[in-house]
Amino acid sequence: FVFVFIEGNRYTLIVDGLKNTLILSVFAALIGILVGLIVAVIRLPSNSLKTHNKFVGFLLAIPNWLANAYVSIIRGTPFVVQLLIMYQIIFGKSGMDKMMVAIIAFGLNSGAYVAEIFRAGIQSIDKGQSEAGRSLGLTSFMTMRYIIVPQAIKNVLPALGNEFIVLIKETAVVGYIALMDLTKAADFIISRTYTAYMPLIGVAIIYFIIIKILTKGLGVMERRLRASDSR
Ligand code: ARG
Repeated sequence: FVFVFIEGNRYTLIVDGLKNTLILSVFAALIGILVGLIVAVIRLPSNSLKTHNKFVGFLLAIPNWLANAYVSIIRGTPFVVQLLIMYQIIFGKSGMDKMMVAIIAFGLNSGAYVAEIFRAGIQSIDKGQSEAGRSLGLTSFMTMRYIIVPQAIKNVLPALGNEFIVLIKETAVVGYIALMDLTKAADFIISRTYTAYMPLIGVAIIYFIIIKILTKGLGVMERRLRASDSR
C-alpha cells in the first residue's frame, strides 16, 4: 500500500518541483534585469558627475560606491552562502515565505551579473552615437532610450542568455533551505524508493528541455533584432 501511494505520488512531486523551479527562475530573472539595469546605469563612467564642491562630490559618489560594493560582494561570495544568509539571518525571524526569500536571493544575485553584462553592452556602443544623439537635441535619457539601448540589446543577448541558463540551473541549490524544487523532488523520491535512476535521469532531461526551449527562444529573438542590420 505504501509503495503504491509513493508511486502514485511520484509524478505530482516532480510536477510541483518543476512549478517551483520555473516560478523561481522567472521572477528571479525579472528582478535581476531590473536591478541589473539600474546598477549598470549607476556604474557607467559617464555618470560620475563632476563638481568642484568636495562635499557635493562626496554625496554624488555614494550611489556609485554602493553599486560597486553590491557587485563585488555578490560576485565574491558563493550563491549558496548568500541564500543561507538571506534565509537564516536577514529574513530569519520574519517568517517570510521560503519561496519569496529564494526569489529575492536569486534576483539580487543575478542582478550583479546582469549589471556587468548591461554595462559592457552599453559601453560597446561607439561614443559617437551618443554624441550624435545629444547634438540632435535629445536629452541624455532619450539618447539612452532610443539610440544606445536598442543597439546594445543585440550585443548583450548572448551573454544574457548565458546568465539565464546559469540562473535556472543554480536554482537546484534551493534544497538547502528545504524548498521542493525539481532537484529536491528527485532527491526526495530517491530517499523514499531507493531507486535513483528514474528520478535523476528524468529530472536531468526536464532541465535540459527547459534550457533548450530558452536557447531556441533567445536565438529567434536575436535573429529578429539583427534583421534590421542588413537593411
Ligand atoms: N555557482 C556560482 C556561485 O555560487 C554562480 C551563482 C549564480 N550565478 C549567476 N550568474 N547568477 O556563485
